[in-house]
Amino acid sequence: MPIDLRSDTVTLPSPAMRHAMANAEVGDDVYGEDPTVNELEELSAKMLDKEAGLFVSSGTMGNLASLLAHCGRGQEAILGDQAHIYFYENGGAAALGGIVYHPVRTQPDGTLALDAVEAAIHSPAHNYHFFHYAPPGVICLENTHNRCGGVVLTPEYFADVAAIARRHGLPIHLDGARLFNAAVALGRPVTDWTRHVTSIQLCLSKGLGAPVGSVIVGPAEFIWRARRMRKILGGGMRQAGIIAAGGVFALTEMVDRLAEDHANAQILARGVAALPGVVLDPPRVETNIVVFNVGTAGTAEALASALEREGVLISDFGGGRLRMVTHFGISADDCHRAVELLRKARAPHWQNSTKHKG
Ligand SMILES: Cc1ncc(COP(=O)(O)O)c(C=O)c1O
Repeated sequence: MPIDLRSDTVTLPSPAMRHAMANAEVGDDVYGEDPTVNELEELSAKMLDKEAGLFVSSGTMGNLASLLAHCGRGQEAILGDQAHIYFYENGGAAALGGIVYHPVRTQPDGTLALDAVEAAIHSPAHNYHFFHYAPPGVICLENTHNRCGGVVLTPEYFADVAAIARRHGLPIHLDGARLFNAAVALGRPVTDWTRHVTSIQLCLSKGLGAPVGSVIVGPAEFIWRARRMRKILGGGMRQAGIIAAGGVFALTEMVDRLAEDHANAQILARGVAALPGVVLDPPRVETNIVVFNVGTAGTAEALASALEREGVLISDFGGGRLRMVTHFGISADDCHRAVELLRKARAPHWQNSTKHKG
């Protein structure tokens, strides 16, 4: 078996999770009659302290159904230029919903500058000629932030964005694919973040280890609209309790163990930081994602290929950067081995480049 550090999406369900899935009570969820889906939706709403929840087939569908529920055609979604929604989701909200993306620069710590968010909001208070502009529909945040290396945005930052949103009567949608990683990293309840936002998309199939699915939660009337959007997107599933049971198991049994992934990421981070010429980017690893820049020696592609030949899979993250993600299928020993192989794999490139540097 390779040591697969490409993503925490590659996790496989444990025997206990499979058992829960195989024995799930099911019904037709489009009729609202699948007891396990209902249980998952109620549980997730309760854990994130929102009125209602909705089971969706993926994080992408959860974000898209949420944006479609928040915005009408021609309205803007204000979001980071490194946000997963903007960067990796095929422009779905524009393609299918006529929603205008209004990207704001994502800062290295995953935040959007508050004045930039405020300036992005076209409202009568800000723009004399505001009738020229697409009206704002939603502000989007992401936590932890994937492209910024799994960094944690604090609840205090969320409170600041919420104050802006309130002033302009705007909802906030949180792409909380890895929100529980943030909560475990800071040792704070998820509700410290969720109380500042209107809706949340939470992935069950990343660090939490379920094979399929996400939930979205929010006010009951928002979830009602999102449920319609899910149906439009073809996401109304029938006896979905089989997969929802994996989600219930994920939320009840898999949250606390995320700390293990964070500890394992530290093994990788310390190992990577000790390699000459390599730069951790960002320099501080806060959760289960380790991104590093291969620097002047070799190329990211060559290093990733060399590791692959030794049975370690990592992701090319673009711009000379590589990404490694720890998860349920990765042990501390795997991380030590990956570091050892990295040291060997980069040796030919780095020896040369050290020579060049004198
Ligand atoms: C931050 C973030 N949001 C959303 C998603 C989308 O999730 P899915 O792959 O289930 O569509 C991902 C997936 O990697 C992600 O990292």
